[in-house]
Amino acid sequence: MVTFAVLCLLACVLSVKSDGPHLVPNFRPPSVPLVVVNPYLSIWSDADHLYDDFPKHWSGPIICLSGMISIDGKVYRFMAKDTDLAPDVMTQVNLTVYPTQTVYVFQESGIQLTLTFSTPAFAATDKIPTLPVTFLTYTVEAIDGVSNHTVKIYYDNTAEGVVSDTKQMVTWDYASLMPGQVAMKIGTTDQDYLGQGSDRINWGYWYVSTILDRGMIATMAPAVDTRTAFMKGKVLPSEDKNKPRACEDNWPVLAIAWDFGTITPGQPSQRWLQISYDQVYSMKYFGTAMEPLWKHNYENFTGLIRNSEYETLKKACDDKDAEITEALYNAGGQNYATISSLAWRQAVGGTIAVWNNVTNEPWVFLKEISSDGDVSTVDVMFPASPLFIWHLPETLQLMLLPLLNYANNDTKEYGLDVPYNLQWAPHHLGHWPVCDLEPNRQEQMPVEESGNMLLMIAGVVLQTKNLTFLDPYWPLLTIWADFVVASLPDPGNQLCTDDFEGPSPHNMNLAAKGMVALGAYSQLLRMKGDTASAEKYETANTQFIQYWTTNGLDGDHYKRQYNLPGSWSLKYNLLFQKILKLNLFPQSVFDQELKYYMSKMNTYGIPMDDRHLYTKTDWLMWTAAMASDDQFNSITSAVYKFANETPDRSPFTDWYAVDTAHRQGFTARPVIGGLYARLLTAMKN
Ligand SMILES: *[C@@H]1O[C@H](CO)[C@@H](O)[C@H](O)[C@H]1NC(C)=O
Ligand SMILES: *[C@@H]1O[C@H](CO)[C@@H](O)[C@H](O)[C@H]1NC(C)=O
Ligand SMILES: *[C@@H]1O[C@H](CO)[C@@H](O)[C@H](O)[C@H]1NC(C)=O
Ligand SMILES: *[C@@H]1O[C@H](CO)[C@@H](O)[C@H](O)[C@H]1NC(C)=O
Ligand SMILES: *[C@@H]1O[C@H](CO)[C@@H](O)[C@H](O)[C@H]1NC(C)=O
Ligand SMILES: *[C@@H]1O[C@H](CO)[C@@H](O)[C@H](O)[C@H]1NC(C)=O
Repeated sequence: MVTFAVLCLLACVLSVKSDGPHLVPNFRPPSVPLVVVNPYLSIWSDADHLYDDFPKHWSGPIICLSGMISIDGKVYRFMAKDTDLAPDVMTQVNLTVYPTQTVYVFQESGIQLTLTFSTPAFAATDKIPTLPVTFLTYTVEAIDGVSNHTVKIYYDNTAEGVVSDTKQMVTWDYASLMPGQVAMKIGTTDQDYLGQGSDRINWGYWYVSTILDRGMIATMAPAVDTRTAFMKGKVLPSEDKNKPRACEDNWPVLAIAWDFGTITPGQPSQRWLQISYDQVYSMKYFGTAMEPLWKHNYENFTGLIRNSEYETLKKACDDKDAEITEALYNAGGQNYATISSLAWRQAVGGTIAVWNNVTNEPWVFLKEISSDGDVSTVDVMFPASPLFIWHLPETLQLMLLPLLNYANNDTKEYGLDVPYNLQWAPHHLGHWPVCDLEPNRQEQMPVEESGNMLLMIAGVVLQTKNLTFLDPYWPLLTIWADFVVASLPDPGNQLCTDDFEGPSPHNMNLAAKGMVALGAYSQLLRMKGDTASAEKYETANTQFIQYWTTNGLDGDHYKRQYNLPGSWSLKYNLLFQKILKLNLFPQSVFDQELKYYMSKMNTYGIPMDDRHLYTKTDWLMWTAAMASDDQFNSITSAVYKFANETPDRSPFTDWYAVDTAHRQGFTARPVIGGLYARLLTAMKN
């Protein structure tokens, strides 16, 4: 029975490997997603080899996960950089990043170890990423074909994942609920829920769980003691009862050691563990604390600890990876599939799904991540939206609801009445994890955010064909559409999303956004059956587009500002015309612009405009999504080259220099979901 299960699991692993040709072999990601589930549970390896460095939170500090293997009594390290304790490494020979899984392969002394990180966040519903869970699977094979080897494997993690400062006090315990299972839990003693001021969580509980197994030990003790015991071939120490104590005080770890026994050629063996995080509360929305969505669906952490479902969830990841990589490959080839696979967990892992107990429905929030801790920034959600529109439109709809609710004066239902008195859409909701922002304290981007909201709504409806969620909001959308009309054809001097570039008055790309957004709103009105209103906006828009094409032309391209001859910029805001199949700007505008951009191609891509030699990864890939196949391939291979070669090691940046490949700023932001734009323009419906 056991052998059969192991063989079956291997077959599943092999079926993932057969997708290899969809991805470029030997791609070197700037950073590798390990446990990337939400803005707090987000652990990466910024190194070429998993043993070259410690795993880190996206914001930089170490969250130590470590791994060692004993082969015929000699110990090698394969994860984390504890060089004093375990100087020898098991050579990393392969690394592949799939959308939901990361696969490392190591070899040493006739043994091959495949370590897979699988994040089945989506598996509970397939519509909303919900499960705060990552599995680590260890598959051991004898590869020298002749000899038998004895193998043991060691895992531990410190408490760094549950603190925002390693001086904080933590406590731990066993937490098994079901027979045959072992679970350990660790968390702070303070449990100061929903505190602000850090990108790190210091409340809730981190669990490590697995199936009981002969010769296996799971314990909680100082790192130096458990690691030393494993190094010396000794039994791990029993639970350290000196608790609570500081995370950094003799570093308590949750540790597991498995005895794989004798590995004979042709008979691989496998063990796994589950890391899960119970946030208890994830978000405070104008006075109301909201539980993570999984918690609403299950009474207690038996719903979180899915040990009995390991095989189902692992297969769900394999299937999801095969589905997504195939779609990416078909839409854009190997380079495209490779960088977009890397983007998946970064984009989805920038969100959290919660239960709204006031309206009794799920909601989703998105964090701006490294640019600041803003919650649900509209112009960060917008660049990310292609991934969600393509594969998770219901999730995007649930991301829009907290913003619509806020702008519609509904916050009083939640305890904190914050009237929204602006004629345009909000910029964000608050500072993670607390939404409480007064409208006049926003960073105001009037046309930007109003256009973004209308466009994202139309993108959701394109996929769901369902307008019902808009029932309470039509008057609000009309206010925004009318504001956009009043601001066109020239939006004057206002901020757009690219505020780091400084002011950009008479911004033609921003104007284009307003025009495409009016097209989107007209499309929604027509679907609703309000043809008269749709025509009103369409008539106004025809004039605006006429003005844009006439006054914006500068010889062989369109200007960055209406009033600046010689300027140019990527008009990435035209993308939604293609996605929504709107008939607004003539195709010649796209052709002419793309041809001009290609003349500005540098080593690692095309700059955003004439002012700087840097670009935005998301906007550049939006631009590529509107291009011919040749232009698309040329842009995509430049972005691939950047990701593969940048010397700045951190989660996929969206802002870099096109001549040097240096990161300009920003890391790990969910905007990288913008890479999925080509899938939308390639879509048939
Ligand atoms: C390395 O990964 C690629 C997928 O990128 C796969 O095709 C290949 O078989 C792997 N090689 C080994 C030795 O696991
Ligand atoms: C390997 O182990 C198997 C099963 O334990 C045993 O039958 C076989 O003789 C061993 N082979 C060698 C080369 O030691
Ligand atoms: C956890 O919830 C399940 C149902 O979801 C219930 O059967 C079980 O008794 C609960 N366990 C505890 C410890 O509350
Ligand atoms: C929603 O949940 C919060 C946090 O548990 C609680 O304080 C509040 O009373 C609940 N509200 C409703 C309407 O159930
Ligand atoms: C919300 O309330 C403010 C202040 O009372 C008001 O100015 C605004 O028009 C209201 N918005 C909507 C959509 O009703
Ligand atoms: C349309 O959306 C509403 C609310 O979002 C939902 O209740 C309804 O079931 C959906 N209708 C269809 C046909 O899916």
